[in-house]
Amino acid sequence: MRIDVHCHLTGEEFESVGGLESVLRRAKEAGVERMICSGFDLCSSERAKTLSERYDELYFCAGFHPSELDKFQDGDLGKIRALCQHEKCVAVGEIGLDYHYENNPPKETQKTLFIQQLELADEAGLPVVLHSRDAAQDTLELLRENRSLLRFGGLLHCYSYSPEMLADFAALGLCFSFGGASTFKNGKKAKECVRQIPADRILSETDCPYLTPEPLRGVFPNEPKNVNYVVENFAAIRNETIKELEQQLFENAKRLFPKLR
Ligand code: NI
Repeated sequence: MRIDVHCHLTGEEFESVGGLESVLRRAKEAGVERMICSGFDLCSSERAKTLSERYDELYFCAGFHPSELDKFQDGDLGKIRALCQHEKCVAVGEIGLDYHYENNPPKETQKTLFIQQLELADEAGLPVVLHSRDAAQDTLELLRENRSLLRFGGLLHCYSYSPEMLADFAALGLCFSFGGASTFKNGKKAKECVRQIPADRILSETDCPYLTPEPLRGVFPNEPKNVNYVVENFAAIRNETIKELEQQLFENAKRLFPKLR
């Protein structure tokens, strides 16, 4: 059984390829039987919940992405808290820090909301799904300072930092997922991380509709069925059989996200 632990299925991008129903059908035909649809603001989190109620294979996480905080309104945290109680809400996410674009929300605003959402996950007894882009040091420091809020674990999704820093994040008990970037010819760092990471800390994702893996790089939209290319690439890099790896990836996901069935 294959799993895509981080995808975005709430947008309109899939209309051009037959709509969500056909995306899910192709995933099933490709053996991808579980997907975790990640929220990035209140609206997408609520939509992800609705989809998870409609489709057995879909689970979701609820939270505010650091780049989306200009939409944040008083009362939204309470609504995210309510979503966390849902039987198919497996984590708070995606949350974190993103300093990539100059016009991203101010760092202090990002940090405040990040900590508030870590608290929310801790209260709800859920793990967190973390997004961190061009903010390695601040993410590491903030997590170290708030380590007590990581009791229920966390996933650093689409891990893009160095293999050395991976050890620092791993020391906080985190797991790591890799998607399309780990298949790219210029994805040397990601490949090295995939090679080194302990077997019980690695997970597979697509982050679709973006970051389509090789050999389909450049095709839009990416979709969960393509997690197979990611897994095949893991197996090649780690010199493991796909069958062994598939089982390990699924076990890792179930351990990190106990609500997953
Ligand atoms: Ni994402």
